[in-house]
Amino acid sequence: RKKVTKLTTGSSDFDTLLGGGLETQAITEFFGEFGSGKTQIMHQLAVNVQLPKDKGGLEGHAVYIDTENTFRPERIKQMAEALELDPVEVLKKIHVARAFNSNHQILLVDKAMELAKEYPVRLLIVDSLTAHFRAEYVGRGSLAERQQLLNKHMHDLLKFADLNNAVVAVTNQVSSNPGMMFGDPTQPIGGNIVGHTATYRIYLRKSRGNKRIARLIDSPALPDGEVVIKIVKEGIRD
Ligand code: GTP
Ligand code: MG
Repeated sequence: RKKVTKLTTGSSDFDTLLGGGLETQAITEFFGEFGSGKTQIMHQLAVNVQLPKDKGGLEGHAVYIDTENTFRPERIKQMAEALELDPVEVLKKIHVARAFNSNHQILLVDKAMELAKEYPVRLLIVDSLTAHFRAEYVGRGSLAERQQLLNKHMHDLLKFADLNNAVVAVTNQVSSNPGMMFGDPTQPIGGNIVGHTATYRIYLRKSRGNKRIARLIDSPALPDGEVVIKIVKEGIRD
């Protein structure tokens, strides 16, 4: 069994909250409302995984399962240039796969496993984990089936993380609830099952301007807490 290592988020405050960054051999779920920065963070991670280890990277490739068609090569370019990396090389090491439906999304994890035999894939992103499932399994009658499939999907993802000593990062949209101090962490789609399989859960919410608040929820080994991050031209920063 390989040693668990950490991947930087781009923000040293955020890294500190996470005990040094996102852990390999684990699933980290980012949940929050539209515009809370989930996709921006996924882009940043896909760049950061390529950094040398002394800069918080894993010197690896990323697989980006894009379910909402929100992957932007131009944004990767900006983030890569800010880190003085060659954007063309960086883009080559991000293997983007569009998932057309939930079945296809599940299948793409197998494809990622195959790809990881050829390339040193150290990061697997699913953005969004739940959107297809939410759209396809509507109504109370299909809830159990949806949860079962999501459960299987999460276990496949965890297996990928373990076998490749990789970081797995997934996103999950949740509507904000103004009646509460912060959004209801039980509210995300697939709440229980997703919440119980993800090793780390981060709740993102909007603050003023380009500021976002990231809160670590119910982490097994780390104290709960929150930090402010910024989404700037260069990417995710303190
Ligand atoms: P949904 O997928 O709709 O649930 O939202 P999300 O949580 O994925 O939000 P996303 O990461 O797409 O955040 C969008 C926000 O990021 C925008 O409102 C901008 O504030 C910021 N943003 C996006 N692109 C850029 C960019 O190129 N430069 C800068 N400075 N900010 C950006
Ligand atoms: Mg998004």
